[in-house]
This record gives sequence, C-alpha cells and structure tokens, in this order.
Amino acid sequence: MLYYISTAELALFIQENKKSGHTIGFVPTMGALHDGHISLIARSLQENDLTVCSIFVNPTQFNQREDYINYPITLSADLEKLSDAGCQVVFVPSEEEIYPPDGSKPSAPDLGMLAKVLEGAFRPGHFDGVAQVVEILLSLVMPDRLYLGRKDYQQVQIISRMIQLKHLPVEVVNCPIIRDQDGLAMSSRNVRIAPEDRQAALTLSKSLQIIADAWGRSSLPAALDGGKTLLATFPHIRLEYFCICQATTLEETTDPKTGIAYVALIAAWVGKVRLIDNIELPLLQ
Ligand code: PAJ
Repeated sequence: MLYYISTAELALFIQENKKSGHTIGFVPTMGALHDGHISLIARSLQENDLTVCSIFVNPTQFNQREDYINYPITLSADLEKLSDAGCQVVFVPSEEEIYPPDGSKPSAPDLGMLAKVLEGAFRPGHFDGVAQVVEILLSLVMPDRLYLGRKDYQQVQIISRMIQLKHLPVEVVNCPIIRDQDGLAMSSRNVRIAPEDRQAALTLSKSLQIIADAWGRSSLPAALDGGKTLLATFPHIRLEYFCICQATTLEETTDPKTGIAYVALIAAWVGKVRLIDNIELPLLQ
C-alpha cells in the first residue's frame, strides 16, 4: 500500500517508524519514473523495513531554464509505478517546502575538483544544487540508507562526499545502470529523443562498450579513437566529453595504472537532448 503523504505528515511518520526501530531506505527522484528508478526502489525494499521516495524537480540544479521547463512531469503514472513496485511512502514537496522563503538553506560544502570536472565543467552550479537539495531531503527523511544510481556516476561521488563532509549518518548504496534492451541507459529525458535520433543516441553506450572491449588490449588513445570514430558517423551528435577517469577522484587519465579502478564517461547532445552514460572498467592486471 503506497502512502502519498504531505511533507508535514512525513516528519511524524518518520518519527513513529524510528521509534518502532524500523530501518528506512530513501530514493530521491525528480519523477518521470522508469525502470532505472524502480530498480532503486526494489533494492531499498529488499534491505529496509520502510522505503520512502521523493519526487521533486529541483530548480537549483538546472543550469538551463529550458531544460527545467521541459523536464517531463508524469505524476499519476509515477504513483502507479511506485504502488506496483511496493514502495510504501512517497512525498512530493513544493518548492516553498524545500526552499523556505526566509532563505534558510544548508551551507555549500567544498566539493573541490570533483564538482568542477565533467558535468561540473559543462553544467556550472549543477552539483551545488544537487548537494543542497539532497541534504535538505535527507534532513526530512532521516533514512538509514540512501539509494543512488550509477547512471549519474559523478552525482554518486558528489553526494557521498557531501555526506562525508557533513558527517551525516546515512549509508550510500549505489546501484547499477538499467538499460533498454538496445543498450540505451534509461533516463527521464529519453522521452524527448526523436525516433529518428534513436540510432545516434545508441552510439553513446556503443562507444563506451568499444572502450571496455579494448581495455587492457590496445592503448588508451586507440580505444578512445575507436569510440570517437563511431560517434563521428552521426555528425549531428555534439560531444561534450568522452574520457577515462580514475573511479573515485574522476581525474582524467591518459596513462592508466594496474590496480586502480577507472571509469569511461560520456556526455553528448543528440538533437535537443543531452545524454550521459558511463561504464566501469575492470582493473588492469
Ligand atoms: P533523477 O534523474 O530522477 O534520478 C533519481 C535516481 O535514479 C538517481 O540516483 C539516478 O542516478 C537514478 N537513475 C536514473 N536513471 C537510472 C538508470 N538508468 N539506472 C539506474 N539508476 C538510474 O538524479 C536525480 O534525479 C536528482 O539529481 C536527485 C538526486 C533526485 C536530486 O534532485
């Protein structure tokens, strides 16, 4: 049974569950839910007595107003999906509830280089908005565990760092990327991909797979070139980054070492839609 509760009711609900010793898993989302989101709900349900989901399209993390305005909103379908998945609680806060008009908000933690590279370089201010809203949501839900998807690889690192810097008592559980059958990483923005752009969108995951297949067998520049050649077959793809980074610092590497974890990441515009994807690479022996 899914309880759709107000933000005011949430505090009492959480308090009662904590008193009863129930563990709480939390899945923050911006709605337009798909199987990627639902996989986080399913994992939380397995590991906690109570699973709480939030739906809030956070204005402070959008660096382009057009993207914010066009962000898909599908509340009744979302509630149905959450109910079918067995999620127990959902709340959909208003902007005033998250950002009170008196202007009180958590101080921005120093996220260092982690927030300046990749997404941070192309979406200035994005991660400040993400860190801020997640801290506020965590203060409302007070979960034992926070469920995040590796689809937003850098976001997982940023939120984990914020939690560490603020000494918040919550465990981050990061979950695998869920893909469509053809390999496209699921995303709320995929509904905006024109049918004729689908093949172009697929080259993101394919180019990452080229790197994974070449990893440890050919040189890093050769692996990247293979991916770039594929991407270039669709001249209207506007690539923002396509690189291999150290998995925790996200520092770009040109000379990978044995025993260190790396991840290949990509961001590109396909038509009017900006897509991101990544693949974790096996340790080099
Ligand atoms: P949103 O894009 O709605 O994503 C909510 C959560 O679902 C994030 O942890 C995201 O990584 C995960 N997710 C999205 N697509 C996924 C996929 N294909 N496979 C696995 N997990 C996937 O990310 C946000 O919202 C916001 O930035 C938020 C954290 C809610 C803060 O506003």
